[in-house]
Amino acid sequence: MVLHTPHHAFQVAEALEAFTDGALVFDDTGILAVGLYSQLSPQFPNATRLEYKNAFILPGFIDCHVHFPQVSVIGAMGLQLLEWLETRTLPFEESLEDATLARELAKDFLRLLAQNGTTTALVFGAHFEAAMHAFFDEAHQSGLRISSGMVLSDRELRPKLHQEPQAALTAGQRLLECWHGIGRLRYAVMPRFALSCSDDMLAVCQTLLEMKKGVLFHTHINENPSEIDVVKKLAGATDYLEAYERHNLVRRQSIFAHSVHPSISELRRMAKAGSSVAHCASSNAFIGSGLFPLKTHLEHNVRVALGSDVGGGTGFSILKEGLEAYQMQMLRQEMRLTPTQLLYLATQAGADALELGDVVGSFATGKQADFVVLKALQGSTLEATLARSPSTEASLAALFTLAREETVLETWVGGERVYQR
Ligand code: GUN
Ligand code: ZN
Repeated sequence: MVLHTPHHAFQVAEALEAFTDGALVFDDTGILAVGLYSQLSPQFPNATRLEYKNAFILPGFIDCHVHFPQVSVIGAMGLQLLEWLETRTLPFEESLEDATLARELAKDFLRLLAQNGTTTALVFGAHFEAAMHAFFDEAHQSGLRISSGMVLSDRELRPKLHQEPQAALTAGQRLLECWHGIGRLRYAVMPRFALSCSDDMLAVCQTLLEMKKGVLFHTHINENPSEIDVVKKLAGATDYLEAYERHNLVRRQSIFAHSVHPSISELRRMAKAGSSVAHCASSNAFIGSGLFPLKTHLEHNVRVALGSDVGGGTGFSILKEGLEAYQMQMLRQEMRLTPTQLLYLATQAGADALELGDVVGSFATGKQADFVVLKALQGSTLEATLARSPSTEASLAALFTLAREETVLETWVGGERVYQR
């Protein structure tokens, strides 16, 4: 079955398009057609045929917030954000000063993304320039569609992770010149969060952001109440967003991770700028940040997509993030997300957030052939559930509930296979 969301799933009732016995026709320039195999087969008699039985073909998943140095931090229990950073995460991130280690971590990280069906990701990087050259080099070789950048900090946290703003500017400029626009790579300017960045550092961010067209801005916001208190105090701001606004960092190409505790005013300002939020459901639960107010974001027209937030999050699966997002809204008793809305959040919404909405996210003709083939393992719970599924929507719901890393049979980016089980 071929499934995608050609329409906005929060604005259109029938946003899902599904073809049982479907076909996706593509070449290395992009998608040529999507539809029923019986109709498309005679139209493309010379096409090479790949056949998958009892499989689901979906647009590749889009992870709008994930940290490449944090795979080994997954599962650090018993800690909330600031203590989790201080005791487990940042001490490990210091070790990325070693570029050889950074390259090894990058290889693992990129393999795990592909293995989970993620084809596009906005990746929080390391604090060290050499680590980022190694990461971009590996990302280029992986074939994945990656946006990333060097993480910037110059106060609080651990001094070993600090840079002088001027040094951050020259290093950022070198990385940007080297990697932005190379293959499927893009640069994203990434202050760790306003808590760890002075005004001088945020001013550097603005300079970097304006250096080349298509550069993204990505950071954390309003994740945890203690963090928010510190930010307001250090920045002397009435709210968190103001710290970024002062340096003109709240824009259409800005993606803010978390936004668990925003004020209505902040939501209005983010919406006005056209910024997006990466909702990191498993992380918000795991490090106890809170229940994301999705309905309020959508009511205020803030664009929302999904992020795994590895290693605050509990793994790379964007399907699992969809399930956790669903569960959170059930707990809030505000929204009952449909499987179609989950697919939209996992794919097209992420593409839109990353300014790639015309390139990937659905199977519209002319987009790049980024897709994932899912197939239940023999004897698995998923296989048994799908065997008696009453409808397409029920099958999609079963995928979000039960399909994981092991369900991913193949991952394709730009018409090239980047992972095979
Ligand atoms: N805020 C600043 N750094 C981080 C991080 O690494 N993870 C999360 N979840 N929040 C952050
Ligand atoms: Zn994060």
